[in-house]
Amino acid sequence: MIQTIPAPAPRTEPRTGPGREPGREAGPRTVRVALAGCGTVGGELLRLLRDRGPAIERAHDLRFHVVRVLVRNPARPRAVEVTPGLLTADLDVFLAEDCDLVVEAIGGLETAGRIARHTLARGRGLISANKALLAATGAELDVLARERGGTLSYEAAVAGGVPVIRVLREALAQTDVRSIHGILNGTTNFILTRMERGASFAAALEEAQARGFAEADPTLDLNGQDAADKIAILAWQAFGVLPARLPVARRGLVPHPDRLIADAAAAGGTARLVAECVNGPEGVAAAVEPVVVSRDSALGRTPAEENLVIVETGSSGTLRLAGPGAGGGPTASAVLSDLITAAGAAPATRTRSAPATVDRRAHRWAVSIAGNGTGKGRLAAAAAAAGITLADALDPGPATVRALTGPTSRPLLHGFIRSLEQAGLEPVALRVVSGD
Ligand code: HSE
Repeated sequence: MIQTIPAPAPRTEPRTGPGREPGREAGPRTVRVALAGCGTVGGELLRLLRDRGPAIERAHDLRFHVVRVLVRNPARPRAVEVTPGLLTADLDVFLAEDCDLVVEAIGGLETAGRIARHTLARGRGLISANKALLAATGAELDVLARERGGTLSYEAAVAGGVPVIRVLREALAQTDVRSIHGILNGTTNFILTRMERGASFAAALEEAQARGFAEADPTLDLNGQDAADKIAILAWQAFGVLPARLPVARRGLVPHPDRLIADAAAAGGTARLVAECVNGPEGVAAAVEPVVVSRDSALGRTPAEENLVIVETGSSGTLRLAGPGAGGGPTASAVLSDLITAAGAAPATRTRSAPATVDRRAHRWAVSIAGNGTGKGRLAAAAAAAGITLADALDPGPATVRALTGPTSRPLLHGFIRSLEQAGLEPVALRVVSGD
């Protein structure tokens, strides 16, 4: 479906800085954004800015205006329609645009690097989803940002929609991280989990590409380089090691993906492409390689394009962050959160929602009461009186009667439990949950 991104409104507020000039009229502050790239991530960001625009204004008192979009071919049809005057294929025109924040979602090193340095040298905010660029030059860009008073943000560069950068930089800022390991490439995880269910490597890769998970050059996913760049960025956050100086020992899915699946099964587990970095006595060591893990481990149960980041700390135990690691929606949502932070937004005030007066959602419940013999009849009678269907009888314990209810709301269940308690039947009820 073709959707239209509105043309920028005239600027109404100060060009830079989070503050509002004293005495200015109230109203959302306008932040001008130049976007490099209108592919999977850039296109989805435009859609988000349009759809979430009113909510962003309400919550953060901000209005983002996209003032320029750099693309390779302005004439190419797009899933999100962009006002034609915004599009340019001319890098110099893009760099000359007067704006507050620049989003770089084109990937690669050369043009992306030029955009990054140009933006930061002018003290502006750069938001990048480009893991290759950050792994190669992130530390240098960070210095430039600090020197010139700009900001460098890259939540979207690692693990898509999973906010791992912010967790390491802020939530765990003073926590002694010992190691990080996990699944950092959605494409290869998607391929492995599809192949385990019988898909061919070629078909699984094609689907990953069609769903916007793979890099423009999927070799980077398949040979482990994408995950290597990401683990170098995480090691930088956790240990301060310069990502460009960190050698990452790397092996990927290719050239024998079928053998990885078969060999992992023969070893009694399932194959995953795991990235890790460890701060050991000799320094920080990092690797990306295929591993065999048990099917019921957290790594083994990570499906499709999901990512999983496991952070081992000395004082806070083990943390696990999981979620969609690739794809336009999750990645653009991470870019948007960086945009809001880089714009110096006021803390979010969530739209007020009313509390539900009645929770009518239905669940199944495993219910037991004390007793045997007559207990079964008493449980059935109490359920009927409470308007609850007992779907299945469960195996009784030595002095317990058990049954599973049909779909039943919580208020109904609570009434049922009360009636059983009043009858002295000592009820216990567990909500039955499938999945996590
Ligand atoms: N190609 C990447 C992946 C995209 O599959 O994880 C997200 O960085």
